[in-house]
Amino acid sequence: MPLSDWQLLPPDLDPQRLPNHVAVIMDGNGRWAQQRGFPRMMGHRRGVRTLKALVRCCQDWGIPSLTVYAFSTENWQRPLEEVNFLMQLFEQMLWQELAVMHQQGVHLQFIGDNSSLPPSLQAIMDYARQTTAGNRSFYLNVALNYGSRQEIVRACQAMGRQIQGGQLNPDEITENSFAQHLDTAAIADPDLLIRTSGELRLSNFLLWQLAYAEIYSTPILWPDFDRVEFYRALLAYQRRDRRFGRLSSS
Ligand code: FPP
Repeated sequence: MPLSDWQLLPPDLDPQRLPNHVAVIMDGNGRWAQQRGFPRMMGHRRGVRTLKALVRCCQDWGIPSLTVYAFSTENWQRPLEEVNFLMQLFEQMLWQELAVMHQQGVHLQFIGDNSSLPPSLQAIMDYARQTTAGNRSFYLNVALNYGSRQEIVRACQAMGRQIQGGQLNPDEITENSFAQHLDTAAIADPDLLIRTSGELRLSNFLLWQLAYAEIYSTPILWPDFDRVEFYRALLAYQRRDRRFGRLSSS
């Protein structure tokens, strides 16, 4: 199929059975660069390009929500130079892309503990969140300084405080009310998780929210994850029988 045709949803994908929400662990930037003899940072730069292209693709193909793992609570253990580079890259990307994303109707949200991010990054994140709050055509959720276990602990602490204050009865806690205390309270659970670079781990990403997601792992490194690879992931998704614990999906 010529590349230009990839702008439309490939005909063998069923538009009625697309995932509403795709989560992505964007892995392999460093290896992509090292394989080419480039510094790792070059891989991250290419990774931004891939993310921008995937947002466009989701919009073209009618997938309304995307959550990406940009920086985990464990990523602080990387060399300081790389951590600083990534923080600057996130900030730069937000400054550069905000106007275009806003024009395209993208609603930007962030999950994770923002409080230890550089103040200048927090400022543009707040600005981006406020600016795009009214947009409804596409939801991009960026996990920054995100760790799922920490998120669950934070939710428990918040509920503990409500119990202490007498506003919450522990017997009335349900799955739904618990989920309302997570960073993703306003976001439906992902239907599909894609992890690039062949790893088969969740790496502390959306542990609660991915309970029933289909998982797709590909050896392709994140900078090489293009529309054709996304199509392959969606095809694999549509071939799965999503039973949610029942005997069949019908
Ligand atoms: C994994 O590659 C990627 C990251 C640590 C996150 C960086 C993501 C981007 C730059 C994409 C753009 C995101 C935003 C929000 C601007 P790795 O370094 O773990 O690769 P490796 O496993 O090959 O070392």
